[in-house]
Amino acid sequence: MLLITRELPQAVAMRAHAEHEVRALMLTGPFEPDHLLAHLENVDAILCTPSDKFDATLIMKLPQAIKVIATFSVGLEHIDLDAAAARGITVCNTPDVLSTATAEMALTLMLMAARRAGEGERLVRAGRWTGLSPNFHLGTGIAGKTLGIFGMGRIGRELAGMARGLGMVIHYRNRNRLSPDLEAGAIYHADDDQFLQSIDVLSINTPGGDATNGWLNAARLAVMRPGAIVVNTGRGSTVDDDALIAALRRSHIRAAGLDVFNNEPHLHPGYLDLENIVLLPHIGSATLETRNAMGFLALDGIARVLNATGSPQHISRRDVP
Ligand code: DGY
Repeated sequence: MLLITRELPQAVAMRAHAEHEVRALMLTGPFEPDHLLAHLENVDAILCTPSDKFDATLIMKLPQAIKVIATFSVGLEHIDLDAAAARGITVCNTPDVLSTATAEMALTLMLMAARRAGEGERLVRAGRWTGLSPNFHLGTGIAGKTLGIFGMGRIGRELAGMARGLGMVIHYRNRNRLSPDLEAGAIYHADDDQFLQSIDVLSINTPGGDATNGWLNAARLAVMRPGAIVVNTGRGSTVDDDALIAALRRSHIRAAGLDVFNNEPHLHPGYLDLENIVLLPHIGSATLETRNAMGFLALDGIARVLNATGSPQHISRRDVP
């Protein structure tokens, strides 16, 4: 039996029901481990989301019958992979199919931040627009500017292609330098400070996890160019919220666009009264086409494990760029 934690897109739900006996929890709020544990009788597979935290304590309590946890995400930060491996549970995620949608969201945030679009929209809705004048609501353009991509994986490379089309120059910081065909002219930095000093816009495209926890801290923000822009569609854990809020308050960072946060959906309240920030509710992959593709990929992973035809593709794969 397949346990599904949250409501799925219709086409994915139909396929899930065609392939499995399904128990659907239909959670809408916080994930309660005890609630999950109470519904696992006869379950051998779980389809979860990044809102459902499978830490070591929960994984150790899962019944022996559970063979696979598939997550409706490329990110795996919410699942303790070592604990799952220790229990012999395979973890599947949904890479590749969301790269374009997430890169589009990074681009959206970048343009919105640069052109103060969120602030402008709030102004119009509040009836505070008094008309056009030469100095009214000036932002900055992105053509000719340097985009720094932190995490040049599939999403980062997709974003690089889009930004090149808008006339941006691409720099990147990555664990390893890419091959020339993947780099496509982007300039690699092996050093954080040199990278951050070279760019006008920082896009965070890493999947989170211990290696990048709190990476964008006060010291790194301080070396960024005055007036730089920060965009994050990766994971909130990569950013030190207090440090970013302080940098936005004194306009050292001109503007930011965030789709992901620490402690979602309870983001740091310091963001809420800042005008120079665009805040979105983790919708990077939220197109129907993409969500269908993610759901189908998750079901493919579950089928491979349950039918024991497991190709290693998409299975227990940490999407570290
Ligand atoms: C992912 O897939 O990890 C996204 O952040 C959620 O859609």
